[in-house]
Amino acid sequence: MRDEITAGFHARYGRAPAVVARAPGRIEFIGNHTDYNGGTVLGASIDRGVWVAVAARADGRRRFGSEARGAIKTLPAENPPAKQRGAGGWLNYPLGVIAALPEFGLRPPAGFDYLAMSDLPSGAGLSSSAALELASALAFLALGGQEAPREVVVRLCRHAENHFVGVPCGILDQGVSGFGRKDHLVYIDCRGPGFATVPLPAGARFWIFNTHTKHALVDGLYAARHRECMDAAKRLGVPLLADMTPAALEAARAKLPPVEFRRAQHVVEEIARVGATVQALRAGDLAAVGRLLTASHRSSQALFENSTTGLDFLVDQLAAAPQVHGARLTGGGFGGAVMALTSPEFSEAQAAAVAAAYAAKFGARPDVLRAQTGDGAALQ
Ligand code: GLA
Repeated sequence: MRDEITAGFHARYGRAPAVVARAPGRIEFIGNHTDYNGGTVLGASIDRGVWVAVAARADGRRRFGSEARGAIKTLPAENPPAKQRGAGGWLNYPLGVIAALPEFGLRPPAGFDYLAMSDLPSGAGLSSSAALELASALAFLALGGQEAPREVVVRLCRHAENHFVGVPCGILDQGVSGFGRKDHLVYIDCRGPGFATVPLPAGARFWIFNTHTKHALVDGLYAARHRECMDAAKRLGVPLLADMTPAALEAARAKLPPVEFRRAQHVVEEIARVGATVQALRAGDLAAVGRLLTASHRSSQALFENSTTGLDFLVDQLAAAPQVHGARLTGGGFGGAVMALTSPEFSEAQAAAVAAAYAAKFGARPDVLRAQTGDGAALQ
């Protein structure tokens, strides 16, 4: 990919890039909607990602190109940058990073030529947006000769998404892309935030089934779940739901309307499942890990109500196969992708059979992607 992006940059801008950066996509392993509730989460950075190449320009113009999106877009080097609408919407990720840099005591870049390239499918629940933010942030910092601790880069990219793009996401996506490590999972205590890695036992395999379905109101539904969780915490008299244990929540059941109770129960029990998963990983017990993954999905299905009949169908099919340790929706939900943790014996033919069964029922075939863990964001 480095040669490809260098060649692509040359073709568009007639010169070589000064800096190339790459950031991986991520799998949400377990810890669904726990991040913005101050909880814990486990994720895997994968071997596919987004690449960004940049070179400075002296004329104060910012030119953006993307291998996937045709024409070059030229913008003035204004700070803060103006938000883009319509086809230029993808620019809000790098522009959001530019807008966030001064808030973290860092200088935004002046004029530049910019090219993005990706081998990570977008809209697959693998967080191509966080990967684009991280790769852009590393490229802009290096272009200006600046260095920042990794945690600051991760936090500023989340800030870009919250305040410029306008999605109230937690730190999961940016944290995993930033702190990922091959053959490891990233463990995030989202309140600190604190980042650590946990080795993945040998023989673990990941499969992604991307349904390409997305609820029309997905951003609004995500924000609605966020609001329900904050309202529940307020009624319970705690800053965030991570401050409750499952037992304390049960004792306080009468304080919450039934819907808010279900949302809170999902979050609080999911945080407990993340802890149990870390223990099972340390013990090398992939069967126990898999049971926790599938339990997470059942909780999404029944309590958080962020699954769909299509995702449930895939999980049912996958969980029935003996080579599958566990399966669950990955990411925000309301459509998107299911991930399965399998033994090496789970075959392409089995994956294809699951996809075919889904196609027979829902009329469209999901993309099947075999993913591996890979290292986190870095200059190339
Ligand atoms: C999306 C958000 C994350 C996280 C997950 C749900 O991927 O970007 O911050 O909240 O949903 O766990």
